[in-house]
Order: sequence, then C-alpha cells, then structure tokens
Amino acid sequence: MHADIVVLPGDGIGPEVTAAAVEVLRAVGRRYGHAFGFHEHLIGGAAIDATGEPLPAATLEAARRADAVLLGAVGGPKWSDPKAAVRPEQGLLAIRKALGLYANLRPVAPHPAALGASPVKPHLLTGVDLMVVRELTGGIYFGEKTRTATTASDLCEYDVGEIERVVRRACTLARSRRGKLTSVDKANVLETSRLWRETTTRVVAREFPDIQLEHQLVDSMAMHLLSRPREYDVIVTENMFGDILTDEASMLAGSLGLLPSASLGEVARHAGAARDATDGSRSATIGLYEPIHGSAPDIAGRGIANPYAAILSGALLLRHSLGLEDEADCIEKAVSAVLDAGVFTADLAASGRAVSTREATEAVIEQLQLECQPVP
Ligand code: NAD
Ligand code: IPM
Ligand code: MN
Repeated sequence: MHADIVVLPGDGIGPEVTAAAVEVLRAVGRRYGHAFGFHEHLIGGAAIDATGEPLPAATLEAARRADAVLLGAVGGPKWSDPKAAVRPEQGLLAIRKALGLYANLRPVAPHPAALGASPVKPHLLTGVDLMVVRELTGGIYFGEKTRTATTASDLCEYDVGEIERVVRRACTLARSRRGKLTSVDKANVLETSRLWRETTTRVVAREFPDIQLEHQLVDSMAMHLLSRPREYDVIVTENMFGDILTDEASMLAGSLGLLPSASLGEVARHAGAARDATDGSRSATIGLYEPIHGSAPDIAGRGIANPYAAILSGALLLRHSLGLEDEADCIEKAVSAVLDAGVFTADLAASGRAVSTREATEAVIEQLQLECQPVP
C-alpha cells in the first residue's frame, strides 16, 4: 500500500517523539512492503516562529490531502505570555476543528510490567482496560471568549447533533468491547450537561438498547477513576472533562508518556479512498493521531522523553486511517514486549536504569522483527 502521512512534530518533545514514531512506522512499512511517504509541516510554536501563525494554510492543506496526520505536541514557555496575540495551542484546536475531528479516542490499559510506575495500588490496576471518548470540537474550548481589564468569559455551548454523534461513536465502540458506557457530566449544575445527559439517554435507548448506560458526575468520576478503574469500559464526555480525566487516567498506566490517541471525524478513512475529482482532496474526513501528553518543556531536548505514546499513536493511525490491523497489532505487541523486558524511560524507571528515547525506539524496532509475521 502507498500512503501519505503528514507529520506535525510541533514543539518541545514533540519532534523527539514523532521522530521515534516515524522510525517505527518506516520499519513496519519495510517489513510489510508498504510505501509510506512522510511529509513534515509546521504547527504550534515552531509555526509561529517561522510564519507568525500557529496553523499555516500550507499545513492544513497538506493535512487535508494526506491519508493520515501524526502530531507530536505544541506549546511551551516561549509562547506562553498571557498577553500573546497568537498561541501554539490555537493551531492544534484549529486543525481539529477544520478536519472535523469530533471524537478523540484515548485508550487506557495499564501494562502489567509498568504497574510499579503508577501511584495507584497494583491490585486496583490489574484488568483495567478502558477507553475514554472525548468530544473534541465543541464546548468551552470553542465558545465565544471575551476579555476586559477586569472580566473574562468563556462560553460553553453544545448542540444536540454534536452530542449525538460522539455518543454514537462511543456506543459503537462499547459494542465491540464489554458493552458498558459511562457518560460523564456535571448535570447537577450545568445546562450543557443536562442537554448532554438527556441526549445520551435518548440515543442509547433508541439506537443502542443493548448498551448498559450509567451517568456519573465528573467530580465523583475523578475519584472513582482511581478507586475502581476496573469497572469502566467506555467513558464518553465533553471536551474539557475528557482532557482532565485522561491526564488523571494516565496515572493508572504509570505515565503520560504511555497514552496514545486517535482523533476521528465522521468516516474512518482508508488510504486509497476515491479522491474528490475537483480539488484532489478526499471526500471523507481524515484522522489525526497524537500522544495525549504535551510538549514537556521540563525534559525537552534531553533525549529522555518516553516515545511509546507517540509510537502507539502510530499504531492507531495504521488501524483507523489505513485499515492495517495486523501492522497495528504488531507495533502494540512490540511495545508490550519491550515493557515486559523492562525497557523503561526515566518517567517509568522508578529506580532502575532508564533508557533514552533512542534506545527505547530501537528496542521497539528490534522487537518488531520478532512480532511481525507478514503473510507472504
Ligand atoms: P505536559 O504533558 O507537557 O507535561 C506534564 C508532565 O509530564 C511533565 O513533567 C512532563 O515532563 C511529563 N511528560 C509528558 N510527556 C512525557 C513523555 N512523553 N515522557 C516523559 N515525560 C513526559 O503538560 P504541561 O507541562 O502542562 O504542558 C506543557 C505544554 O504542552 C503547554 O504549552 C501545553 O499547552 C502543551 N500541551 C500540548 C498538548 C498537545 O499538543 N497535544 C497536550 C498537552 C499540553
Ligand atoms: C490535549 C491538550 C490540548 C487540549 C491543548 C494543548 C490545547 O491538553 O491534547 O490534551 O486541551 O486539548
Ligand atoms: Mn490535555
């Protein structure tokens, strides 16, 4: 298969971890005989420095024409002045919105070998396997913002259609898993949450009666996520709650550096789908894949970032955008095997020897040779 992958390294450790993911994807491509083309473009602070804009038109255009997008992270102290006119994070929000990526899938399944890295007691972690579906293009992130010298406001808005589509996506996922959906909101206080709850209840009752639905308020969810994480299967929630709960959930896995994500729109696209005749772009939406962590300014440039979240995001890219299930499995098995072997970067290695980003990446690539069995 030939596929064009747009790579947006971004800032801080973004370039370090995307380089690792690209190396792994290249290795998988060689093993299975795929021709992956990688095309780097600017986003975030790097794009502001070069062009003045966090999402240059050329980047968005390239992303629209690609088969999939792999992103590192954006942001950092250099661009964090509260008075700054443009911010790296605006680039990320803009590309999510422009590509219609309303469903952000964030799987959390603590690896047995990394349980020691979690602050949660190991007996609570065994068997944890949950998937957070975070609404990604609505809510308070995208509402009107106002600011005077002494007041500020961020409007949180949702319409029924925005809630329905992400809930349907979460229900479909739940069907392929353990059939349980937890919808998280703050319906005791927020009007948007009352609409969220009402809509979720209706969609499940009408379209997914086989799904076991429960509603959970976000504050107690934050607590239960740590005290009984095994009970959750698919969790669906609005944009900001999903952002916060998944950084919390990363501590079940032991590090932010372990959690990948897939941001998907209406139709999961596959490479080779017919191109639109008029402008060469494709008719369905494209997927964007990124680790859930940020640019980690505190460790950037030192070659010690954990590359596994980015590498696993590459696996999600193969699965969801290119339809390459075996190749995706192969990456996941290779990461799992190197974790079993104790190949830990500093964020995971409590006391033992920590490997560099490069060593961890090489270990995964070496392991691929054992895990991948391409059918001739
Ligand atoms: P962060 O996720 O960058 O870092 C939080 C902590 O986790 C830090 O101690 C960091 O060293 C550690 N960490 C994160 N990823 C790691 C990895 N792969 N390996 C080892 N350790 C890792 O969050 P922050 O410090 O709050 O934010 C820094 C910047 O990143 C901000 O500008 C923020 O806006 C941005 N950010 C971007 C994204 C994104 O691009 N998707 C996501 C989150 C934050
Ligand atoms: C994430 C990040 C982003 C978000 C920021 C950088 C805009 O925290 O991808 O989780 O809040 O969505
Ligand atoms: Mn976040």
